Amino acid sequence: MTKNYTLTILPGDGIGPEAMAEVRKVITWLEDTQDISFTLHEDDIGGAAYDRYGVPLADETLQKCKASDAVIMGSVGGPKWDKVDYDKRPEQGLLNLRKEMQLFANLRPALVFDALIDASTLKPEIVRGLDILIVRELTGGVYFGEPRGIEDLGNGQRRGVNTQVYETYEIDRVGRVAFDLARKRNNKVTSCEKANVMESGKLWREDITALHTANFSDVTLEHMYADNAAMQLVRNPSQFDVIVTDNLFGDLLSDAAAMCTGSLGMLPSASLGEAGKPGLYEPVHGSAPDIAGQGKANPLATILSFAMALRYSLDCGEQANLIESAVQKVLEKGIRTPDIMANGCTEVSTAKMGDALIAELS
Ligand code: IPM
Ligand code: MG
Repeated sequence: MTKNYTLTILPGDGIGPEAMAEVRKVITWLEDTQDISFTLHEDDIGGAAYDRYGVPLADETLQKCKASDAVIMGSVGGPKWDKVDYDKRPEQGLLNLRKEMQLFANLRPALVFDALIDASTLKPEIVRGLDILIVRELTGGVYFGEPRGIEDLGNGQRRGVNTQVYETYEIDRVGRVAFDLARKRNNKVTSCEKANVMESGKLWREDITALHTANFSDVTLEHMYADNAAMQLVRNPSQFDVIVTDNLFGDLLSDAAAMCTGSLGMLPSASLGEAGKPGLYEPVHGSAPDIAGQGKANPLATILSFAMALRYSLDCGEQANLIESAVQKVLEKGIRTPDIMANGCTEVSTAKMGDALIAELS
């Protein structure tokens, strides 16, 4: 029986649309060769949505996303919208989408492909075989805490305020996701905060410890200050399996982990809410406006994000595996977009990379 899934596709800004065009090839391949069909809704987010609707996430777009099985996004932002008011900036569209879809757990794998080992700025022996999963809390913390704002103090001075705030249920639900995933991997969780200086960090540590004792004592749990974690990530990244951390530290640590792999253009992410609710899938890289529209973008991070959607939202783990091993094979053949180009390899365009992947799948 053919399985049908509803997908909302949000190409976004910069290189988003060209990367998404390659995802469409994979979607077509799946429909042609597997017993799967897709109902696709395409819409705008970020700067593209601002230009079309006057807001970076229109309500009708949000409704479509909520009614889908999964949402696949490209990237948002660019200098074109630098002067736009803060609450209408492209990034705000993404933040609203995360918040409104209640996507509290952001999964960011940092995986070093053998064929790309030299892409890392770290020594090969440090990053070989690296496979870390960062679970970042995504709907709380300083990104959303109140009060926030810029206040005029009237004496020629201003005050900028953001609030770091977490409640137990928020720590608990993202902690569960991390422990559950660790059980399917190497069974270790490193929880990162700054319990030495922040009350919210102290609470984070206590709640994660309580959750571990009550439900996950079979998993190895380690606590680490977030600054130390940043250092350990570049010193000896292989010590980590799953890292669970708050929104802001997760933003920073996932960029650092991404760079251990040396290839931001390769890294997918999944943002998940309660079981059964649609997830959002997007590459870790940004919109790269400097190379947009030139066929230089690496579409693999967006394609691998789609593979995560197949696995986590669509119950098509087998097809996710097919795509992931095809990516590996394409890399082993030395086919490269400019961002991961190396000596002796063949440099190809965004579209040619997509074609090479489809050839490998076929
Ligand atoms: C990310 C990005 C976003 C964030 C921006 C674009 C709002 O850096 O997804 O890591 O800070 O969360
Ligand atoms: Mg970031």
